[in-house]
Amino acid sequence: MNGRVPGQEVFSGIARRYDTLNRILSFGREQAWRRSGIDRLPPGKLLDLGAGTGAALAAFGDRRVVALDPVPEMLALNPASVRVVAVGEELPFADGSFDSVFSAYVFRNLTSIPDTLREIGRVLRPGGKATVIGLGRPRGSLAASVHRAGTALVLPLAGAAVGARREYTYLHHSLDKLPPPEELFGGGPLQVEDIWRMGPLGFVYGALLVKR
Ligand SMILES: C[S@@+](CC[C@H](N)C(=O)[O-])C[C@H]1O[C@@H](n2cnc3c(N)ncnc32)[C@H](O)[C@@H]1O
Repeated sequence: MNGRVPGQEVFSGIARRYDTLNRILSFGREQAWRRSGIDRLPPGKLLDLGAGTGAALAAFGDRRVVALDPVPEMLALNPASVRVVAVGEELPFADGSFDSVFSAYVFRNLTSIPDTLREIGRVLRPGGKATVIGLGRPRGSLAASVHRAGTALVLPLAGAAVGARREYTYLHHSLDKLPPPEELFGGGPLQVEDIWRMGPLGFVYGALLVKR
């Protein structure tokens, strides 16, 4: 494990195949889902929390981007000019130093969501905004069961095809790990301004959070 938690260990193994696999598994929609979050953010200085290989970078426009990720193998492939190896639970930045925070497909991998939300709130300036894009299960028990059966079949097969069966079986299980976004973010340190759903059966969510 090299001192890494499971969500980090998984990504060190698949860094080079990560973007291609995502594109295939989301039918090319994963960047549009990221954009739905980025388009709601103000200009200025942006923290990409769990930035990985920098797949979102082109969509940030002329914002000043700081890319943060705990896995050096992922960050090494990220073309951002400012890259920081660290975890979301303990951000090495001053209070109020960002206009916005963006985080896509990261929250299922965090060790502590409350700590990370508290840290996002701390580094945002008053009035600053954060968007979180995440994968989960569709609303409604029937849709969730259908989706669960689908990912149980498709994700290990897709993973095996690229030599990453273990990692993509982890992805299948991690989709059940968290409560829906309304519950995840409601009552937290940041105010929930909007929650929207995307993708087949709405299994992708976006959340817009504001620091008051
Ligand atoms: C599914 S990838 C998403 C990468 C990128 N945001 C994207 O949209 O392609 C999840 C990323 O979260 C990172 N990660 C895992 N644990 C983390 C933590 N505690 N804090 C911040 N990032 C973390 C992983 O290293 C990985 O790069």
